[in-house]
Amino acid sequence: MASYDTDPMHMHSMHTHSCGELRREDIGREVTLTGWVWHRRDHGGLIFVDLRDRAGLTQVAFDPEHSGGVAFHRAETIRSEWPIKVSGVVRERPEGQDNEKLATGEVEVLVSDIEVLNTAKTPVFQIEDHVEVAEDVRLRYRYLDLRRPQMMSALRLRSDFTFAIRQAFHRRAFMEVETPSLFKSTPEGARDFLVPSRTQPGHFYALPQSPQLLKQLLMVGGVERYYQIARCFRDEDLRSDRQPEFTQVDVEMSFVTQDDVMGVLEEALADAFGEVGVSMELPLRRVSYWDTMDTYGTDKPDTRYGMRLHDVTHIFESSAFKLFASAAADPKTYVKAINAKGAGSWPRAQLDKLAGVAASFGAKGLAYIAFRGDGSVTSPIVKFFSDAEMAALRLEMDVEPGDLVMFAVESRRVADEVLGGMRSHMADALGIPREGHDFLWVVDFPLFHWDEDRKAYAAEHQPFTQPIEADIERLDSDPLSVGSHTYDFVMDGFEAGGGGVRIHDADLQLRILKKLGFSEEQATEQFGFLMDALRYGAPPMGGFALGLDRVCMLLAGSDSIREVMAFPKTSSGSDLMSDAPAEVSGRQLREVSLRLL
Ligand code: AMO
Repeated sequence: MASYDTDPMHMHSMHTHSCGELRREDIGREVTLTGWVWHRRDHGGLIFVDLRDRAGLTQVAFDPEHSGGVAFHRAETIRSEWPIKVSGVVRERPEGQDNEKLATGEVEVLVSDIEVLNTAKTPVFQIEDHVEVAEDVRLRYRYLDLRRPQMMSALRLRSDFTFAIRQAFHRRAFMEVETPSLFKSTPEGARDFLVPSRTQPGHFYALPQSPQLLKQLLMVGGVERYYQIARCFRDEDLRSDRQPEFTQVDVEMSFVTQDDVMGVLEEALADAFGEVGVSMELPLRRVSYWDTMDTYGTDKPDTRYGMRLHDVTHIFESSAFKLFASAAADPKTYVKAINAKGAGSWPRAQLDKLAGVAASFGAKGLAYIAFRGDGSVTSPIVKFFSDAEMAALRLEMDVEPGDLVMFAVESRRVADEVLGGMRSHMADALGIPREGHDFLWVVDFPLFHWDEDRKAYAAEHQPFTQPIEADIERLDSDPLSVGSHTYDFVMDGFEAGGGGVRIHDADLQLRILKKLGFSEEQATEQFGFLMDALRYGAPPMGGFALGLDRVCMLLAGSDSIREVMAFPKTSSGSDLMSDAPAEVSGRQLREVSLRLL
């Protein structure tokens, strides 16, 4: 990996070393450093300044007795965050003043000459890690925020990982090809950002939600192995792991099977992670979609801890507790449970609050049993259970004193979503340690799911995914049972990437689009160019996209992708430095033939 701490080419005329570079071996050397005044301490008649640049900090000392005191007197005027240039001799720090935590902590520079390169307004917040600064203030003054060592190291990590990705794919004969940002709507399930055309009034470009269609066209064009560090745009509600503008490592291959693509991908990813010191054991584990939904209640499980979901429906087939018994009698309703070890000692008031949390994941209610340390139980429902039911439950859920068993009585999908959500909520609430990184593939997704709002089938991944060949005969009779050639790359409980094998047969593509509710005219209007291309000898192809921001967030141990983006947007999609989005002039609107409502 690159060293950002030294200047191997000695290309700078302004300094001889970075602020992170000087060591004991440099004692006696004449050096020149540039950087920002970080901390300034006046004592014992001397002035000490911690000079900071992106590489670190070096203590520089100003002595009134040295070189006629000129540098000292100039140093009396300097303030925090002024950029300065200092020249002097490296010397050993006085006895007892070494700083072991600092790479440059054994030395300091006795300054003979100082040049003030600029002054600075007093920064609106302290340039320090771990100080409480409201995020909107940090974003308004992002250029100051970036000076904090933590931000700088996040940018380095991102640069290193991106470089490693480029190397890993380049080494495997992938070509980096750029694709346009001014393009046509590509349905990845979010809203498009539109750009009005000046030359064609009433017509709009859409910024790509991903280069999906373009990379398929590259395969038709014979590129064979493509990758790109691609900017994607999606107008969707933001969360801590979502931005309207984000970056994918976008990949596509042709003349390949699903296993070929997954094999190359996991090797390339393992290489890239290895370059940043994270080992990934190969072959990566593959878990089927239905298995992970059943056991973890999510298609992006964090498997660094247990708390698995159990189907306990069978225990309550003849229960006196009507809610559970009638669920057991209804093939569409399940009683599922998780055991949060440690939460069984929570006070009643805290337990009762969990229903609200469960509701946020779609639950109608949350039944629970808290097994107290003294052998008693606290539970609104347990009085209805027989001894046999209780014994079976204890066995199934591996109950010990201190456990909290929570139930969801819902359809399979809702029960899984509720308990999957509760599982991760409880892991956070209980501070369950999740060390190292957890990588796996989730495979065997269904091709469609039923979208209750639109009352229509929706693509589970996207409309260009190849169905499992043997399932195609059920496309009309039982579409929800049709499987797909898809895979998600899950890291630490986040969907870090996803992809699949594509349809390369135009007729099948049209059939799938129709299943998704497109009329033939709509399909042709929106995707005619793709289906046309498929008719010109499209090869079998498959690919993948890695969410670069998400991966960097997890590598950096951050809880938001904003922490690994230089200039992210707020949750309302604003850039607080420039105040974008902003109004534009009447002339600009007229030029693109628009009038505001
Ligand atoms: P998908 O939509 O799953 O697939 O996106 C791939 C990965 O991109 C990341 N991601 C995001 N990151 C930050 N902010 C967002 N708003 C955001 N949306 C998605 C996620 C996700 O796993 N064309 C297909 C890929 C393919 O089939 O090759 C696609 O875009 O980490």
